[in-house]
Amino acid sequence: MINKTDIVLTGDRPTGPLHLGHFVGSLQERINLQEIYTQYVMIADVQALTDNFDNPKKVHENVMQVALDYLSIGIDPKKTTIFLQSCIPEIAELTVFFLNLVSINRLKRNPTVKTEISQKNYGEHVTAGFLMYPVSQTADIAVVKGKFVPVGHDQLPMIEQANEILHDFNRIYQQEIFPKIEAITKENTGRLPGIDGKNKMSKSLGNAIFLSDSEDQVAKKVMKMYTDPNHIHVVDPGNVEGNVVFIYLDIFDQNKDEVENLKLHYQKGGLGDVVIKKRLIDVLNNFLEPIRKKRAEFAKDPEKVMEILKVGTEKTRQAAGETMQEVRSAMKLQYF
Ligand code: TRP
Repeated sequence: MINKTDIVLTGDRPTGPLHLGHFVGSLQERINLQEIYTQYVMIADVQALTDNFDNPKKVHENVMQVALDYLSIGIDPKKTTIFLQSCIPEIAELTVFFLNLVSINRLKRNPTVKTEISQKNYGEHVTAGFLMYPVSQTADIAVVKGKFVPVGHDQLPMIEQANEILHDFNRIYQQEIFPKIEAITKENTGRLPGIDGKNKMSKSLGNAIFLSDSEDQVAKKVMKMYTDPNHIHVVDPGNVEGNVVFIYLDIFDQNKDEVENLKLHYQKGGLGDVVIKKRLIDVLNNFLEPIRKKRAEFAKDPEKVMEILKVGTEKTRQAAGETMQEVRSAMKLQYF
């Protein structure tokens, strides 16, 4: 059912190319959502700077990479408005207003932020900018009156905190300006493990397969994949649970019956890792092939890509301006 009045907003930090974990967790969903809702997808360059403020070059370069990732997987600029966060000053303005509605202790308790602070060893030296990025993320969504946010599971505490802020805003300024936000997460395929079998695929953990990887890179990574450490000889019975190759086959192999047969064979013994890895290499490369082709097309014309971002950004500014008029009026900030 088409419903263009409800708004979807989501985004990614341009700190590196996007990978299969992003695809499974959120990107894939966006391709469906753009058919139903009014969808905005944001390249979160301001948020990327919160932990990369001393490396603006990295953020700048990855804006193009992320834009190419979007376009090559089928996020269609005719259906989805793609925009740059830093070009919407209304987001910064709204963030300032929202900051009054959240305590520093509440920010420190946000599980996503807490994990990141400890991973990055910030400790007591965490910057104000980093600590408050959930507030700016709330503004990202609210500025276009976003209702649905397709995200990975790690972002759920963000949505919870955003709803607290928006609820308080509507209550204090006595207007239902912002809708309650709902996360859209994928239950069964919530999290894709890295090739090392670690819980989460991530660029910084060095265990990712990127959407932009070549056939060779994919093959090398799959050959290194974590399987069952006790499956030493081909004849040994092997474990399929926690076996990354089978986890990926379950998600990406269209031939479900054959995957079930392979699992049975592997558990019984007599099926070597190389055989299942070769199958996965084919499956992943078949999946990535059309994405690579499209990427190469767009990469030939970076000006066209920038033009898509420009048009999307202008459209977003329009919507953001309208929201801010309501916000300013509710907050009694209209003077002239
Ligand atoms: N924090 C998100 C990430 O790291 C990116 C992001 C920024 C985002 N603003 C957003 C996601 C708003 C959803 C909605 O992936």
